[in-house]
Amino acid sequence: MPLVAGVDTSTQSCKIVVRDAATGELVRSGSAKHPDGTEIGPDHWWTAFTEAADAAGGLADVAAIAVGGQQHGMVVLDAEGQVIRDALLWNDTRSADAAEALISELGDGDRAAGAQRWADAVGSVLVASLTVTKLRWLHDAEPENAARVAAVALPHDWLSWRIAGYGPAGDPSAPLGPDLNALFTDRSDASGTGYYDAQGADGAGEYRPDLLRMALGRDDVVLPRVLGPAESGGVAHPSVAGADVEGGALLGPGAGDNAGAALGVGMTTGDVAISIGTSGVVSAVAPRRTADGSGAINGFADATGNALMLAVTLNAARVLDAAREVLDAGFDELASLALRAPAGSDGLVLVPYLEGERTPNRPDATGTLHGIRLATSTRPHLARAYIEGMLCGLADGLDSLKAQGVPVERVLLIGGAAQSPAVQEIAPQVLGLPIAIPEPGEYVADGAARQAAWVLAATGTAAGAEHPAPPAWSTTITATLDADPRPVIREQYAAVRDLV
Ligand code: XUL
Repeated sequence: MPLVAGVDTSTQSCKIVVRDAATGELVRSGSAKHPDGTEIGPDHWWTAFTEAADAAGGLADVAAIAVGGQQHGMVVLDAEGQVIRDALLWNDTRSADAAEALISELGDGDRAAGAQRWADAVGSVLVASLTVTKLRWLHDAEPENAARVAAVALPHDWLSWRIAGYGPAGDPSAPLGPDLNALFTDRSDASGTGYYDAQGADGAGEYRPDLLRMALGRDDVVLPRVLGPAESGGVAHPSVAGADVEGGALLGPGAGDNAGAALGVGMTTGDVAISIGTSGVVSAVAPRRTADGSGAINGFADATGNALMLAVTLNAARVLDAAREVLDAGFDELASLALRAPAGSDGLVLVPYLEGERTPNRPDATGTLHGIRLATSTRPHLARAYIEGMLCGLADGLDSLKAQGVPVERVLLIGGAAQSPAVQEIAPQVLGLPIAIPEPGEYVADGAARQAAWVLAATGTAAGAEHPAPPAWSTTITATLDADPRPVIREQYAAVRDLV
């Protein structure tokens, strides 16, 4: 009964699950916090990973391991494998101007043409989240750092490299030293860099050095080798994982967190996942990506060889945190307050761009509260307006997916906030669709574990030919929610959303 480990190096913490490779049964787990901030020294991810591994009872007995992680973060390494500066994360918006400059440059001064050309080239119109914009920012704001860059990696690539035993020269936790050519990534995370086309080279995928050069001023840097869905990137260093397993622990290619979650929750074509976490993500698996020049939809790759189309909002679970702060209410109290107000909150509407917004692309926006009257100046009205506003932002994302022709047969609601009774009751009213709630879980880490099991099954067969699909681990749906649609909620939101 081999065991596999899945890691989620997320924005807020590192989570590890150890599962039975054949059945997917959870055997052990552990987690450790990351510091707050949108700019983080990657060493914190390594420390949290080792703490989480200890909390999970160690990884000596796992036969394979894979890492899912927050997408897009810019990890820049020098020739000695040292991190040159703190990583800029996906939610760091300082490169918003760089994104606009790159769009305009690719369009020869015409923004609309440039936006479409980026979408055609890499599946996404640039926003500050994408790695390529952070490289342009580095080039402009910190030229000395930019000049030292020898390799660019993403958070999951860097952590996989450290797990394999590589790292900065002279670091005792990196016995294999700073071999930059040992870096690897997967299609899903590479597709969020802005310099990788997952559908290029006749579907094999290819880096776009021309776009990298446009941002960084040069392309003579090492980019991680892009592995296929069940391809192994080598073995973990025995000091980290697999010491008790013959041949050691195979390393899976890993994945961006959204692709990892899609694998963890078992999404197939026709499924749409709405994840309410630090970011709000509306995503769907499709055979091929489209190229949405409006920028609402990112055409990334998934972790199984398909496309992962997604819309991302920056204002999701934290909108509910803000409501709890304003109302001095806990998680349950916020929900019971909201459910005491009527659908549409008697015209009180929150446009929840509390942290700027990414979809729609308004990095400098602030939130607004419309329709406040004496009658709506109550805690229940406010609680409901916050929840409805957040859900309307996600519903806009779902509309954008549908507009790209993505089939929508089933909606899965995931993320911590999906457990709120108010979110569960209001979401089908806002979306006008039945909603399935999978059993709560660490979907990204679970997806990474499922990938590790896939790599284990595929290794030794001819390029995984006998294992073209990941192992069939089951996902339990705990509830299916249905409700009469309440169009008033979205109508009044649409009427005020663009006033700011
Ligand atoms: C996706 C994105 C976020 C991060 C969160 O484009 O930016 O979902 O991956 O970790």
